[in-house]
Amino acid sequence: ELGDYAHYMLKEIFEQPNSIENAMRGRLDEDEATAKFGGLNLSSQQLRHIDRIVLTACGTSWHAAMVGEYLIEEFARIPVEVEYASELRYRNPPLNDRTMIFAITQSGETADTLAAMRECKRKGHPTLAICNVVGSSIAREADGGVYLHAGSEVGVASTKAFTSQVTVLTLLALFFGRMRHMSWQAGRNIIRELRTMPEHVERTLKCHDVVQEIADKYHRCSNFLYLGRLYNFPVALEGALKLKEISYIHAEGYPAAEMKHGPLALVDENTPSVFIVPKGGIYPKVISNLEEVKARKGPVIAIACEGDDRIADLADDVIYVPETDECLQPLVTSIPLQLLAYHIALLRGCNVDRPRNLAKSVTVE
Ligand code: M6R
Repeated sequence: ELGDYAHYMLKEIFEQPNSIENAMRGRLDEDEATAKFGGLNLSSQQLRHIDRIVLTACGTSWHAAMVGEYLIEEFARIPVEVEYASELRYRNPPLNDRTMIFAITQSGETADTLAAMRECKRKGHPTLAICNVVGSSIAREADGGVYLHAGSEVGVASTKAFTSQVTVLTLLALFFGRMRHMSWQAGRNIIRELRTMPEHVERTLKCHDVVQEIADKYHRCSNFLYLGRLYNFPVALEGALKLKEISYIHAEGYPAAEMKHGPLALVDENTPSVFIVPKGGIYPKVISNLEEVKARKGPVIAIACEGDDRIADLADDVIYVPETDECLQPLVTSIPLQLLAYHIALLRGCNVDRPRNLAKSVTVE
């Protein structure tokens, strides 16, 4: 099953051009410039009635939910909340009768996500699953949902499930957007960008050798910071989680501008900061955050767009990714971070596919 790959994690990282394609297959409607789904099990009147969405999940799936929040609010202008399932299940927040819930989960068996979903269902909210494992508990109990079709994910560190979740959330945002404020033209632009995504991801994977060299340079460090803004803030959280779970290095993700409110005190010559700084409106702001770190002698690894000829002078190391629409950047910027965690873990002699203390699906509370 592993083929030529040394580990499942690496295999799953390299499967992403395909898994992203599979998440979109049959779901793009060019004529109507929207997305379509077979299993939402709600009428368009019911869907039109929704005025609030809660996304609930754990771990990496929670990070995908955060990207989803930005996407849905931007495309559809529907207020979205992202809730840790472990909190939501006991928190009892006020949800109105127009609130819809999405439980996001690779395995479909995460105990907290299942419990949060049951609690929302019991209260009568339409409760849908975004899930990978067909026939899993969450998939069966949800009122409806969307499968990822990512294929089985074996590595404990979730990789391809994340990019598939983000893809499905993009489609949902497009769908809700086109029911509300999004124009036909804007919908078509998103579809066009989505269609080129498998190629972009394929090209991103070519950074593998560069990432290996960077891993070699920094694998002995004990602390890392991951910084990004807007759509790349959840990517920073996800990059830090990947590093923590498989290489046992302390890492923290932050929205880059939060640095000056505390984390900047951690910066020194031995604490690398991974800056996710692709092109876009926020670029100059992230660059000034990056310069603040450099001024404190912190090594900087930048994830930047191809053609950015300024960044090499500012950062110690650069990993280039193809340029894409800002709202779709997480699908490319998350990939070098997966590879970086993988190679650092390897160099530290860690068990990449089965890290200590963790299980692939967390079926206990
Ligand atoms: O199967 P799920 O998506 O519900 O799992 C949620 C988390 O347990 C999972 O994403 C975990 O954080 C991963 N090990 C992260 O790589």
